[in-house]
Parts: sequence; structure tokens; C-alpha cells
Amino acid sequence: MNFQAPKGVSEYIPPRSAIFEFVREQLCAPAKSAGYRYMELPVFEDTGLFARGVGESTDIVTKEMYTFEDRGGRSITLRPEGTAGVMRAVIEHGLDRGQLPVKVFYSGAYFRAERPQKGRYRQFYQVGIEAIGLEDPLIDAEVIWLADQAFKNIGIRNYRLELTSLGDAESRSLHRKELLKFYETLDLDEATAARAKLNPLRLFDDKRPEMIAAMDKAPVLLDYLNEKSKSHFNKVLQYLDALEIKYVINPKLVRGFDYYTGTTFEFVHTGLGAQSAIGGGGRYDKLMSELGGQDLSGIGWGIGVDRTILAAEVESVIPVDLGNADLFLIPLVTSNGDQKNIQEAAMRIAVELRNSGKVVELAFGDRALKGAMKAADKSGAKYVVVLGENELSSGQVELKTMSTGQTKSVRISDLINNI
Ligand code: HAM
Repeated sequence: MNFQAPKGVSEYIPPRSAIFEFVREQLCAPAKSAGYRYMELPVFEDTGLFARGVGESTDIVTKEMYTFEDRGGRSITLRPEGTAGVMRAVIEHGLDRGQLPVKVFYSGAYFRAERPQKGRYRQFYQVGIEAIGLEDPLIDAEVIWLADQAFKNIGIRNYRLELTSLGDAESRSLHRKELLKFYETLDLDEATAARAKLNPLRLFDDKRPEMIAAMDKAPVLLDYLNEKSKSHFNKVLQYLDALEIKYVINPKLVRGFDYYTGTTFEFVHTGLGAQSAIGGGGRYDKLMSELGGQDLSGIGWGIGVDRTILAAEVESVIPVDLGNADLFLIPLVTSNGDQKNIQEAAMRIAVELRNSGKVVELAFGDRALKGAMKAADKSGAKYVVVLGENELSSGQVELKTMSTGQTKSVRISDLINNI
């Protein structure tokens, strides 16, 4: 019986897994540089947390959650996203009672029962950040900068930042009234009307051509912002200008969660086809209190690691030698020589170089030199050294640069300075 991975999961095996590690690190790096702290949270939570946190009107909660009963009869769900879990942990551990803002980042696997296609998986990976406890628009700009900077550090260029504001409760309530009035002029089917009732904004997200056409004249929230919301959003835009971050205002941007308020955004890559959102996020000023915590605002984003890899590959910006060794060291096996001695010496040299931060692969077993050279070549190592009786007694080795085939004579003790 041959087993296969479950349908629609993404997995990374060598050599591509080195790209995964690289991209994930790059996505976390700006957040670390701004003092965000790492969080590692469970991949499953109480189902109620997501029903409440993510929202009953969303596709995620109605169709896409992996929910099951555990052995104790509790309803458990594999996390479809990170924000609700972070809120739960912040409240449970009282982080919100310490220094504000609470600034955290996280990375891991998330689960949504979506129809699999390129860039859309049932288990996928995100890096995310959350900043909790500040209304200052400066933090909105910082949060957006942290994502933008991560993409730029990887070398990704062909994306745009789409941005809008969903305003505060007062603005949304004003808009909601107008939107519901507008819906009365449309001939909505029962299911759509039911969705509109749960969250009227959802219909902006409807991908059916007739709905897109019908929504063309729908009133947009951006036109209903009160002074406070408008001024907050304008300040965010000013800061983004100061940071030289380009954006497109998209008043019809709707994200797949009910928790968003105020600044809301998405990073859209132009070379990925249908699954083009490489990251997205926004403010969620009521989420914490809805989950039983203090009335603190928050903002954050999630970036798809899988899609960022696809984007980086489309733009050919991934470094070529990721994960390859600096040196491949071959203890020379001869028919009559003292092989053990040479292997021990090779091990010592490898240990010393590794402890100095070099990546060193050893040739194992008693393969002939030709086979070992082939292995060295396949490994992608930058340099190769063959260590035999002569080299050991003279203390001098031939250092071969694999890309050019050139060799140079180097003292063993001086290898560290030459690789
Ligand atoms: P999201 O937009 O649902 O936001 O997900 C963030 C990113 O995860 C997406 O832009 C996309 O790149 C990636 N992603 C989502 N679903 C899939 C999938 N099925 N396969 C591959 N990649 C996927 C959130 O999850 C929010 N928690 C972000 C947030 C944090 N908002 C505030 N704080």
C-alpha cells in the first residue's frame, strides 16, 4: 500500500524546502527588527473561538473549517487563521494588562477546506503579526510597512497594496442602513439575502458576474465615514506617503472576516492568476472585547508563505544556492592505507569548520573517489576537498571551486579563510 499526502495540502521537500525556510525567515525579519515578539500557539482551538472571532457570515466559518469532536466530546477546529487564537492567548495570559501595545508575530500551518488549486491549499502556511492596544494611525502605517518591507527584502516587486477603511461603528451603521435600502431594490435570492442580513458587506465579495454588475452602484463605506474615521484614515495615508509606500484605494475591498474595522488592506500580486492575494490584514477594534477581553483595538496581517514563494519564483528572485554546503569534504579511501585515521581527521576538520559557522558535508562510506566526486557535484557544495595520506602528512589540500573547476593549494588550518 502506497500512501499519499491528503488532497490539497502543500508540503516542501528538499531542495525546495530551503526556499520555504528562506521566505519564512524574510517575512518575519522586519517584524523582529521592530520589536515584535514571537508567539507559538496551538493549531487547534475551541470551535466557538472561530465562530465568534472570524464571524458567522464568513465562508470560512460556514464552509471551510475542519471541525471535529475530540475524545472528550468537545468541538475542536483546526485553526483557519491566526488572529482569533492570538486574541485568545493575549486575554488568557493577561498580556493586555501589561505594556501596550502588545506586538507579536507568528508563523505556522493553517487549515481551510477550500477547493485546491495552484496557490490555494487545505493546509497552508502564514506568517502573521498583530499589534494590540493602540488606535494611533502610526501603528497602521508601521504594520503595513512591515509587510511591504518583507516583500521588498525578498525582491518581490510586482504587487500592489489595496487599501480602504471600514470606519468605526457609527460610520458602519450609517452605511449599513443605506446598503440595506439598496438591497431592497435588488432581486436577491434567499441565500444571498440571508448572507446580506448577517453582514451586508459580504455581497461586495460575491464573485458571480450578475452580482458584480448589481453591486456596481452600491453605496460604499468610504463615502459614509464620519469625521473621526476619515481623519484616522487620512493620517494612515499620509504616513504611507512619508514611507514612500504606494497604494491603491479600493472602496470595494472586502476581506473574508467579520472582525475588520477601520484600515483594511490586501497585497495583490500581478503574476499569480486567480489566487493573487499574497497577504492581507487590517484593524479589528472590537474583536478583543467580543472575545471576552478588554475593549482594546488591534491591527495585523497574515502573509501566505506558499503564495509568496510562488510570487518570488515568478519574479525569479530566489537566491540559487539556498541550503547548499560551503564545503564537501572527501576522506580518500585507498586499498592499503589507514582509512580510519583519515576519516577521523576529516571528521575533526568538518567539526572545526562547522563550529566556525561553515556548512560542511562529509563523504561517507568507502565509495571510490569518482562516486564521491559525483556526490559532491550533486550536493551543490561550493568547494570540494579530497583528504588523503599525502594531504594529512603535508597539512596542505587542493581546494576545488565547483563552479569554475579551478583548484588552489591551501593549508588545512587556513581552510576557514578560503571558503
Ligand atoms: P487572510 O487574507 O485570510 O487573512 O490570509 C492571509 C494570507 O494567507 C492570504 O493573503 C493568502 O496569501 C494566504 N492564504 C489564505 N488562504 C490560503 C489558502 N487556502 N492557501 C494558500 N494560502 C492561503 C488572515 O488569515 C487574517 N488572520 C490576517 C490578519 C491578521 N488580519 C489581521 N490580523
